[in-house]
Amino acid sequence: MSYPSMADASGRTLGAEELDAVARVLRSGMLSSVWGTEVRALEREMADRHGVSHAVAASSGTAALHLAVAAVAPDPGDEIITSPISDFGTVAPILAQNAVPVFADVDPYTGNLDPAAVAAAIGPRTRAILAVHLFGAAADLRAVAHTAGVPLIEDCAQAWLTRYPDGQLVGTAGAIGCFSLQQWKHITCGDGGLTITDDPVLARRMRLFADKGWPRDEARRHVSLGLNYRMTELAGAVARAQLAKLPGVLADRRRAARRLHAALAGLPGVHLPADVDAHAWWLFPIVLDPPLTNRQVAGKLAAAGVPARAGYLDQPLHHAPALTEAPVYGTSRFPLTVPPADRLPRYGPGAFPVAERLIDQSLLVIDWNERYTDAHVDEIARAVRAAVGA
Ligand SMILES: Cc1ncc(COP(=O)(O)O)c(C=O)c1O
Repeated sequence: MSYPSMADASGRTLGAEELDAVARVLRSGMLSSVWGTEVRALEREMADRHGVSHAVAASSGTAALHLAVAAVAPDPGDEIITSPISDFGTVAPILAQNAVPVFADVDPYTGNLDPAAVAAAIGPRTRAILAVHLFGAAADLRAVAHTAGVPLIEDCAQAWLTRYPDGQLVGTAGAIGCFSLQQWKHITCGDGGLTITDDPVLARRMRLFADKGWPRDEARRHVSLGLNYRMTELAGAVARAQLAKLPGVLADRRRAARRLHAALAGLPGVHLPADVDAHAWWLFPIVLDPPLTNRQVAGKLAAAGVPARAGYLDQPLHHAPALTEAPVYGTSRFPLTVPPADRLPRYGPGAFPVAERLIDQSLLVIDWNERYTDAHVDEIARAVRAAVGA
């Protein structure tokens, strides 16, 4: 059986609406969002969908995260606490703003930051907590951030329309929520990003940072450091059509996930995400108890034709050579050379054993898609049951 894939039209919701959107922009002759209307409309629609006052578009999810990190304004050498299990796009903007990524260990079943570990990592130089809602499950760091009095940035790249247990949408709980529209996400315009916030000061800083520090409504002068992270009108128009389809994408992913969840519930040694209807099901993660191992089970699933992988990453982010050994700027490792505020190990093997165990031994991810039929899900269920010896 072949599975719908996000790598081609079989597993994407790209259709007549996106074709019309691209044609509309091309016909207008205006492809830049500085003077066009599409990206501004996308921002309004994104803010409205989340019930917040501001959204700022960017050229990628990484760029969106960079806007957020720049907006919370760390001093060089300040620390931002984040997860060792994420895309490197979560970490790169911290370094790019001359701040230090500080990791904390994760929950053994969700892979999301463990609030107690985050609380223990908070120090005098902590400037923000950057929570990652991994695979579409909420990482609830609202209380920790509130108690510590530091801004919470939410990386919702994998968690479109995920909800916290009390029903709040992720991305709306902290200072800034960041989203990705990259090819493999729930909705896509190839590459793109969005930030949301209720804070007009943060919104303005992000807009300036995305556009060379240039306040377009005032004058041709540059009031703060900024790059060019603008989304194009072509991408924005496609993203608008995709955003309109988001509730349907979520409903379909949840419907399929509910079926697999029911089929696998109670299997010995197999842990499933807790709340099917709050989860966004970017991937379908499964955590295995020994003696089951992720590599062995993923191998059997791959042999059965099921698109599944062991570990999600090849190594947790705190093992990345970009942090452990490579220069950051020129030959310098600044800001990583700023001494730690406490004695917690920052990087390298052994620093965060729960995250390491997930990647190396227990975490298995199955590609997920809104186009999966009951037959796809039933075949995955059969393959998983066989692979774990049920
Ligand atoms: C959790 C997470 N954060 C950040 C990113 C970076 O987004 P982008 O690839 O759009 O730059 C991604 C996806 O790639 C992601 O999954």
